[in-house]
Amino acid sequence: MSIDIAVVPVAGLGTRLLPATKSQPKEMLPVGRKPVAQHVVEELAQSGIRRLLFVTGKGKQSIENHFDIDGDLITYLRESGREQELSELDFERQDVEYFYTRQRRQLGLGHAVLCTAPLIGKQPFVVALGDSIIGINAQSDIVARMIDEFERSRADVVVAFQEVPRQDVSRYGIAQPRGAVDDVFELERLVEKPAVEEAPSHLAVAARYVFSPEIFNQLAVTPPGKGGEIQLTDAIQLVLGAGGKGVGVRLRANERRFDVGNFGSYFQAFVEFALADPQYGDSLHAYLAQRLETR
Ligand code: G1P
Repeated sequence: MSIDIAVVPVAGLGTRLLPATKSQPKEMLPVGRKPVAQHVVEELAQSGIRRLLFVTGKGKQSIENHFDIDGDLITYLRESGREQELSELDFERQDVEYFYTRQRRQLGLGHAVLCTAPLIGKQPFVVALGDSIIGINAQSDIVARMIDEFERSRADVVVAFQEVPRQDVSRYGIAQPRGAVDDVFELERLVEKPAVEEAPSHLAVAARYVFSPEIFNQLAVTPPGKGGEIQLTDAIQLVLGAGGKGVGVRLRANERRFDVGNFGSYFQAFVEFALADPQYGDSLHAYLAQRLETR
């Protein structure tokens, strides 16, 4: 059976989005009509993921509530004849199962993934960061391509990458590829948030990963890295350093990554999804065009 389970870390505090995230998770901020977490789940379901394991934390209960089936709301909408609004709840009945565990201490992304080791056990799995949407309206099959590559090349780690401008490399995990870089390439080394002059390339980790369970062995011995946190990137580097096989898969030109972790990229994400809205996109486009002319 192909990989059908994804870990979705959503335990981060979202401090770069204060005050919006003081009492609500950044993963529940709307991007267009839907909260970020719903975009992520729909993208994963599209790629064949059927089991979702969220790593949550303090103040994140609204994510669980969002994916519950709300019988009262369904009855109310049905009885008052609001079929259109009722159809907006169809996502509740997607063919996926939800599981939740908590990261009890804020020790970093690597630690959040390590919290799932007793539940994932010895199966390969996907990690999809809950604050990043790939492509507009779940049109990306990046995770399905990564799973195919993981199985075809018998890799230990497959990571999604996007090309970023030179000045942005210190915000991401950065790849050092081995040999030529094509849509798929071999990974020699990975470094978390390097200084611009030390970055081995402009290929930045893009929030989607496929792992063999070997990653847990390395996470268990990964010392704190950048920011004093246990970094997933550092554990991947340990897998590679121990002779494990790492493969990079590049996002396609139409698979933009929308990062919701800071206001600059959150605003861009919202505008892009609003412009793509079937009902309001055209009128927003006209409004913005006029608005920008008079700026
Ligand atoms: C995390 C990872 C980083 C990656 C980024 C985007 O950083 O540590 O390697 O490039 O996500 O996928 P964060 O944005 O949580 O600081």
